[in-house]
Amino acid sequence: MKKSEVLKPPSYCDGLMEWAGKHVLVTGGAGFIGSHLSAKLLSLGASVTVVDDLSAGDMGRVPKGVELIEGCITDTSSLSDAIQGSDAIFHLAAIASVPLCEADPAWSDKVNLQASLEIISSANCPVIFASSAAIYGEPIEIPIAENHPISPVGYYGQQKATIDANICSLDSQSTPACALRFFNVYGEGQDPSSQYSGVLSIFIDRASTGRQISIFGDGEQTRDFIHVSDVVQALLLTGNSLVESGVSSPAHASAFNICTGSPVTLNEVVSLISAHVEEEISVTYEDGRDGDIKHSSGDPTKLQSTFDWKPETSLSDGILSLFG
Ligand code: NAD
Ligand code: UD1
Repeated sequence: MKKSEVLKPPSYCDGLMEWAGKHVLVTGGAGFIGSHLSAKLLSLGASVTVVDDLSAGDMGRVPKGVELIEGCITDTSSLSDAIQGSDAIFHLAAIASVPLCEADPAWSDKVNLQASLEIISSANCPVIFASSAAIYGEPIEIPIAENHPISPVGYYGQQKATIDANICSLDSQSTPACALRFFNVYGEGQDPSSQYSGVLSIFIDRASTGRQISIFGDGEQTRDFIHVSDVVQALLLTGNSLVESGVSSPAHASAFNICTGSPVTLNEVVSLISAHVEEEISVTYEDGRDGDIKHSSGDPTKLQSTFDWKPETSLSDGILSLFG
């Protein structure tokens, strides 16, 4: 079956999104999620500028027609023109890997924390921040709603939690901003070549090329996988609301889970993937990873009820599309 036959068109209407003619800055736009977002904004008529140091991103992923500023977000003085000239900023640049942040907490603090604070405080337009489910740490209640205690276990989660809390404490005098707490995002264009990539891209790449899959731990850890197209839609909806309504938007000073509410174990993921490969998948179980959380299962109700958003792509359809 072809991809187009599997993925249903999203139920939202692009015509509602007033992005035509808007100047939008996407930090981390050469990365996985940022490149999908940039392409969508461009297709909606926005003028898009990407800032990316290409440490994990790829210039080839930046869509034609998007301006790329190749630089580090810690160098905020050289970003000031791009920041000041924007109608909205999607702040996605980060060291997105939990183990990489554990390996170099000082640098990840500069990128994920200090530079983010600087970007938010110097912006005079809405900022939509890529927060993370990692801020909840090991959940005490499942599914995790936005009012679940914030208790990150590692540096990455702590850095994201600080920015997220900063946004949630903004008042009506401040720059409009919101935090979107992504769970495990997957989809086309997620680079599988590094051990620090998203697990689904690694597993599919290995299984489809007959190589062994390594599961860290017993494979019974759960993750709530959300397709990148649904994440992009959440970014656009909240961003649009902030641009239209400023601090009166229900998104302002608020945080939203971006997830499906249907978690799966890694062992279940392997079995979903195995339906698409002829050979039996070879799996090895290794020691659990430092800083890893066991269970991650989000409640998407708040975004659904505030913005009429719902995830359109099921995990099985999303996996199938990656084999297309
Ligand atoms: P990614 O690594 O593909 O994209 C991040 C981009 O930021 C890369 O292109 C990288 O080169 C760039 N970058 C890193 N450090 C930079 C710096 N100092 N200056 C400029 N650019 C820099 O990751 P992604 O999966 O697209 O994640 C995007 C955002 O969403 C990140 O903030 C991440 O923490 C967050 N997030 C991702 C997931 C997920 O499952 N992928 C889940 C929760 C949150
Ligand atoms: C991911 C995101 C992080 C985000 C968080 C939100 C990536 C790279 N990281 O972290 O930015 O904030 O979700 O919840 O997308 N695993 C294996 N074998 C492998 C690789 C991973 O078993 O080869 C396991 C890991 O130990 C972990 C699970 O798979 O238990 C998911 O790992 P990973 O995809 O790196 O994501 P998270 O750590 O959940």
